[in-house]
Amino acid sequence: MPIVKPSPETISAAAEALRRGELVAFPTETVYGLGADATNARAVARVFEAKGRPRFNPLIAHVADLEAAERIAYFPAHARRLAEAFWPGPLTLVLRRRPAGKICDFVTVGLETIAVRVPGHPVALALLAAAGVPIAAPSANKSGHVSPTLAQHVLDDLGDVPAFILDGGPTTLGLESTILDAGEQEIVQLRAGALPAEEVERVLGVRILRASEAVDPSTGERPAAPGQLASHYAPRAPLRLGAASAMPDEALLAFGPGVADHDGPTFNLSPSGDLVEAAANLFAALRLLDAARPGAIAVMPIPDTGMGEAINDRLRRGAAPR
Ligand code: TXA
Ligand code: MG
Repeated sequence: MPIVKPSPETISAAAEALRRGELVAFPTETVYGLGADATNARAVARVFEAKGRPRFNPLIAHVADLEAAERIAYFPAHARRLAEAFWPGPLTLVLRRRPAGKICDFVTVGLETIAVRVPGHPVALALLAAAGVPIAAPSANKSGHVSPTLAQHVLDDLGDVPAFILDGGPTTLGLESTILDAGEQEIVQLRAGALPAEEVERVLGVRILRASEAVDPSTGERPAAPGQLASHYAPRAPLRLGAASAMPDEALLAFGPGVADHDGPTFNLSPSGDLVEAAANLFAALRLLDAARPGAIAVMPIPDTGMGEAINDRLRRGAAPR
């Protein structure tokens, strides 16, 4: 049983396992990550294998601080400003990669850019400090499945593949980091996430483009995080979005006050209508309702502001044809 309580001893044992090329699952403030030494190609390859992750989908390099990030990527002034404002925290920056860095090409799948983040969780930061190397880590779930917000979710998806699963309890934010392409003048949000776009805009003083709005004039192509597949974050049961109520064979994923009674399995993401609470509950709620094996999961509408943008992104991908 790889689940352990984090302590100086278990964190140092986990860091040693990482340095030996083994995988370690650890809590962050967003979701649990499946970590590998980012400088060890064999270890990083094992991450792709364990998740069943497509080889074209690059990983995020987690580092201890901005200084460590600057050793692996170039920071334009606005990117440094964002890092100073939000790190440690739920923000991933995609930047031009420094050629001299020690990060292996498997992490970036050969791209000239790299995604970096300083996680805002004491266990993740202690692990980074003890390991002394950047940690490449995707969410610790099977590729395409719902992301893990509990150590038990990691165990359910990956069994004893990680040498350790450091159990930090439920993750506080519950949705993945916001990903910004910040390497050029124009900043593009590649993935909505736990840092609302409005907060980024407040710091920068300008509106940032959503991936759907940004088109490269030379190619006519939209930028994308290669991993933003249409179908992702999917439970077993199909999702039916925008539901006013649930049918008898459905489970109900509700939101807000005054929800009509439903006989089947029901989870209200936030009875008071709080989007931060709803985000924290989303993935665990999907896993719980799915475990009741309903015909489908009916999902009530959720406002598209603040954290709602990321919640609705995950629900749309969870509902997409597989
Ligand atoms: O909150 C999070 O970000 C969590 C925790 C563990 O840090 N990690 C996470 O990793 O969500 P993952 O692998 O599930 O999602 C990372 C996303 C993928 O969609 C990937 O395509 C994108 O980041 N990405 C990584 N490197 C990129 C790059 N160079 N350019 C564009 N997108 C990139
Ligand atoms: Mg993921």
